[in-house]
Amino acid sequence: MLQLIKIKSLILISSVFFVLSNQAYSAGGTTYDLIKPGFSFEGPTGTFDRAQLRRGYQVYREVCASCHSMKQLSFRNLNQKGGPEYTEDDVKLFASDYTVIDGFDDYGDPVERTRILSDRFPNPYDSKEAAKASNNGAYPPDLSLITKARSGGYNYIYSLLQGYGKEIPEGVEISDTLSYNPWFPGNGIAMYQPLYEESVEYEDGTFASIEQMSADVTAFLAWSAEPEMEERKRLGFIVMSFLLIFVLLMFFTTTRLWRDVH
Ligand code: HEC
Repeated sequence: MLQLIKIKSLILISSVFFVLSNQAYSAGGTTYDLIKPGFSFEGPTGTFDRAQLRRGYQVYREVCASCHSMKQLSFRNLNQKGGPEYTEDDVKLFASDYTVIDGFDDYGDPVERTRILSDRFPNPYDSKEAAKASNNGAYPPDLSLITKARSGGYNYIYSLLQGYGKEIPEGVEISDTLSYNPWFPGNGIAMYQPLYEESVEYEDGTFASIEQMSADVTAFLAWSAEPEMEERKRLGFIVMSFLLIFVLLMFFTTTRLWRDVH
């Protein structure tokens, strides 16, 4: 009897988890599942695709950076192992496109210099208030950790970026200042459609479809949220192999030691 109750509660708990983890977004009767393209960095041995990260950075720099900061990133991160792995010279060139106020001169006036490797990514706005004022009162969130900060993770970001231009289902009201996007909670988002076909001209010649750019910038954001991912997986693999060898050794030692004991 007790056993049966236990099994029943187990089934109940797992179905609750199933419902919670199976993210579906509904709007006026239409249900949209997250689009899951299957990224190269998924799974226990998945790694980032360097070319994709570079394309993703290009999309961020040329499109998203005009509204969204990524304050956890410094330019030198673009050169580090496990990331887009640009050469140091490339990154110096990227950084030198931006300036930063660095101290004051003898008259108390701010001194501006171009950015260097150790500088962080620039913030498009001077303050939260300025950011809101430029975006109809909505705040464009910092994107450094966004793939970890939203339920649905990177697949949500990928879907969201492609969720524009869809017909508004009957019964759904979207205010004039918002765009309809089935994946955004509430379906009305203050970000206008950011990506259009060929919004960027890829340096590596890849055709810049909305789908391609969404995937590339999503991969870049997934990397920025966990720049040490490849190292973590590598270490995990070493630890697991060591444990396996250790268990095998212990097994043979024990059977041998107890061989003559009856
Ligand atoms: C013109 C300004 C602008 C541009 C360009 C822009 N965004 Fe946004 N973004 C916003 C605003 C404003 C919001 C806040 C929306 C809201 O809260 O309704 C936002 C929100 C977001 C969110 C958070 C959604 C959520 O669940 O809260 C993500 C992710 C995002 N943008 C990604 C991007 C990416 C990636 C790009 C580049 C391809 C981009 N944005 C380009 C203004 C912009």
